[in-house]
Amino acid sequence: MSIDPTSFLHDEVRRAKKRLEKALREGDSVVASRQARRVAELLRELARYRSWGGGELLELAREYEELARKLSKGVVVPVSQLPREGAPAKPLSRPVRGVSRIATGESEVSKLDREFDAEAEKLIARADVTWNDIAGLEDVKKALMEAIYYSLAKPEIPVKLEPPRRLLLYGPPGTGKTMLAMAASNMLKATFFNVSVDRVLSRYVGDSPRMIAAIFRAAYRHAPSIIFFDEIETLVARRDTGKEAATGVVQTFLTELDGFKTKKLDKPVIVIAATNKPWMLDEAIISRFEKRIYIPLPDKRARIQLFKLELEKKGFKIQDITYEELAELTEGYSGRDIRNICKEAVMMMLRRANPDIYQQITRVENLAQLQKARYRVKPVTRQELIQAIHKVKPATTPQEIKKYIEWTQKHGTQ
Ligand SMILES: Nc1ncnc2c1ncn2[C@@H]1O[C@H](COP(=O)(O)OP(=O)(O)O)[C@@H](O)[C@H]1O
Ligand SMILES: [Mg+2]
Repeated sequence: MSIDPTSFLHDEVRRAKKRLEKALREGDSVVASRQARRVAELLRELARYRSWGGGELLELAREYEELARKLSKGVVVPVSQLPREGAPAKPLSRPVRGVSRIATGESEVSKLDREFDAEAEKLIARADVTWNDIAGLEDVKKALMEAIYYSLAKPEIPVKLEPPRRLLLYGPPGTGKTMLAMAASNMLKATFFNVSVDRVLSRYVGDSPRMIAAIFRAAYRHAPSIIFFDEIETLVARRDTGKEAATGVVQTFLTELDGFKTKKLDKPVIVIAATNKPWMLDEAIISRFEKRIYIPLPDKRARIQLFKLELEKKGFKIQDITYEELAELTEGYSGRDIRNICKEAVMMMLRRANPDIYQQITRVENLAQLQKARYRVKPVTRQELIQAIHKVKPATTPQEIKKYIEWTQKHGTQ
């Protein structure tokens, strides 16, 4: 079998570049910026397939990212100034990881900050989730919409209202916290910064305070923005384990949270943090979040919706079982668990319906042939679904649920 996964990427790069050039000629800097970022993403993806020469692609990707940033600030860039492949690569400035802590004067510091700025921009992610993709959680959706509405809209007569801009979502894993943050961002047409705190802390060891500050700066630049800090408890957890002098990180985080609250911005920056372990947070952090919203496991109605989202809405049929029954059988399961159940059951159905794919695939010679092949799809049976339910174990225990409820009684705001 000889399928070259990069040929598709090369085609995509070409298409994105065309769209970028078109947008530049038409002076549409919003589209141009998006396309430049897309080119950068694709180049990074391509670089992963290269055993050599990947560095050049990454350098080129950086140039497109820089371009995207300029464009998003409204800088006019002529088509002739697009980054070129094979152009002499600019010498790489100092690597971000393990940067020497001795800065030599102002300019060196600001240069370093600029590098962190570029790193922060990489955290911008697509948020294409809509409220309708999220099952259940009606009250939570309303609370989030409300917070956003009052952050953006102006009062009819001058009154001083401080809309909540720092929201904490907590609850069992896999219940839609990330999705909610994305949907909020999508509704706002905001720039979405997806920050896995754990990853930032381990990637920028020693420099994480700098990185946190850079993330906030990037969010102001791209406002309206939503910064989503996932697994926020790892920020504090490190302080205990002494993995890092994390006090500095926590301190920076708190300072930034306080600072941005008072900052006068005509476009808002909203911070949404998420955690599965709220009891690990300390008071200093908890109190910074005006709204602390519990995201519970899905109730029966939400579970029906979840099964329908994963099966019916995707075109699959079920046989000898109802959605009602499926929901009854899955009390205690999270949205993610239910998605896994459906994936598992669909896989079983596919194996049953297409027992001959192994012989077929060995005969495939190229991508085009494979794309022409057709596989059979049958209804997913009761047996397959029940087997999948037994296979997937709920990620949260009743004891843990009790802990969430206790924490809510102490710290919840809703
Ligand atoms: N309420 C929900 N509605 C729809 N899908 C959900 C829901 N909760 C979880 N899921 C599914 O589980 C996956 C993980 O959800 P995520 O938002 O990342 O959970 P969390 O951030 O709470 O751990 C989602 O990508 C989605 O497929
Ligand atoms: Mg998540």
